[in-house]
Amino acid sequence: MTQVTTLPEWQALKALARTDGTMHLRDLFAGNANRFAECSRCELDILFDYSRQRVTPAIMQALMKLAEARGLRTHIDAMFNGDIINTTEQRAVLHTALRASADRIVYVNGKDVMPEVRDNLQRMHKFVDGVHTGSIQGATGKHFTDIVNIGIGGSDLGIVMATEALARFRNHNITLRCVSNIDGSQLADVLEKVDAERTLFIVCSKTFTTIETLSNARLARQWVVDRLGDGAVAKHFAAVSTNHKAMDEFLITPQNRFTMWDWVGGRYSMWSAVGLSIALAVGMDNFNFLLEGAHAMDEHFRTAPFDSNLPVLMGMLGIWNHNFLNMDSLAVLPYDQRLHRLPAYLQQLEMESNGKRVTIDGTPLEYESGAVLWGEPGSNAQHSFFQLLHQGTARVALDFIAPVNASSEFQGQQNLALANCFAQAQAFALGYNEADVHAELHVRGMDDATIKKLTPHKIHPGNRPSSLILFARLGPKTLGKLIALYEHKVFVQSVIWDINAFDQWGVELGKKMAEKLAPAVENPQSAKVDPAVQGLLGYVSKWRR
Ligand code: F6P
Repeated sequence: MTQVTTLPEWQALKALARTDGTMHLRDLFAGNANRFAECSRCELDILFDYSRQRVTPAIMQALMKLAEARGLRTHIDAMFNGDIINTTEQRAVLHTALRASADRIVYVNGKDVMPEVRDNLQRMHKFVDGVHTGSIQGATGKHFTDIVNIGIGGSDLGIVMATEALARFRNHNITLRCVSNIDGSQLADVLEKVDAERTLFIVCSKTFTTIETLSNARLARQWVVDRLGDGAVAKHFAAVSTNHKAMDEFLITPQNRFTMWDWVGGRYSMWSAVGLSIALAVGMDNFNFLLEGAHAMDEHFRTAPFDSNLPVLMGMLGIWNHNFLNMDSLAVLPYDQRLHRLPAYLQQLEMESNGKRVTIDGTPLEYESGAVLWGEPGSNAQHSFFQLLHQGTARVALDFIAPVNASSEFQGQQNLALANCFAQAQAFALGYNEADVHAELHVRGMDDATIKKLTPHKIHPGNRPSSLILFARLGPKTLGKLIALYEHKVFVQSVIWDINAFDQWGVELGKKMAEKLAPAVENPQSAKVDPAVQGLLGYVSKWRR
């Protein structure tokens, strides 16, 4: 593809950034009483309000033209059709097939993958029911009450995010705990709390080679063997992976194995058997609702015209903010504590997907690709980093996300959360200018000299761009829609930037170096390593008890 910067559509946006893009949101709102109606779309019961983005009709038109010029529609079709769009790994990208309707046929290399997808879902259903009813039991005949998911990255983040988000729907006879980190403390904390006889471990790893997961899983297996004997492994371990040989070696019995496919990327895999732990925690019906929600968003993305297509709008607004208004990062601010792990989930989705420095054909990029994504639940964030967002020098775009109805029984509290969410969005957009400050301080009876001194400190420049995503209530269907919305937004941006959103070579180098260094850390005295690391190993020797 031609470098995007050479396209007339990109140049038109550059010109607009110097004109319309310098307008203040205060003026944009003041000049158009219909701005909210014109700059918001409600699709699939999700309101996407972008009236606080620094855009004009001319900018929106130019963004849509850029999407057309980049052949976005053709790229969307290629993904849904199972074309090999992950070219560096020669793979199709079909997380959408995992949530497709029962009658759908999806070919990968000439084979319809849907029968296997459906079969896996049925097996998951049976397994979940077996655990819930107690027909699947531990080695001593006891029902499972605790599930421990051992996995990392895409084999952990979606599970944690979704089960926290859907806490209202949890099966109260089952407690799900997740172990991802390698340092051992998470595993230790979990093992301290569970009873071996009633605990089922799910080793979740697409490759079954990930050191964090395998080292934790081996420790957990030893812990089970120590308490219940060798024979218990078959009953107390299940696994989700593409790697059957490794599952054999780990002694996972065939009935406790769930497969995945190389056409599902780790960070897009919560819809596959990776979601087994989600289904065990909230029930298979709710897992199916999650898939239904995501499928509805897939269909919307595939068919809706660009100017009312939520992922397209969101993706193109991100391009505008990042490439033309130079916003370096995106803060995701959910006003619902249940979504507290959403920013962490989106970090992997967005930054592992679009954190790339070359185009699909390997040419270095002449423009910015993926932005840094970060965030915290809204109200907590207000009392920590919002100061910087309002008055600091960093350039940050914002996504506010909120349900109207509480995820708890305390609707009054959610009303307060919503009031805060709306107020912050307004404050970021409109700011508080010199005249506002003067008026306030005069009313408070302050003298002119003090007002003059205080004014620069009290000014909020505003014009901080944000989108607001509002929905009625957080449930499995809505969560499915929300996550698929972000997935497709990431795809839209990757098409504009002409990068591969589905590989992740950047995580390999550090992994390989860690493998080499592991024996040196174990045995620092005899290690022959880089002088910089040698220095550190000196302290390891000195301080390790
Ligand atoms: O961090 C790299 C990565 O490959 C992620 O893409 C993936 O989600 C994670 O490791 C875990 O991989 P696996 O599921 O194969 O253990």
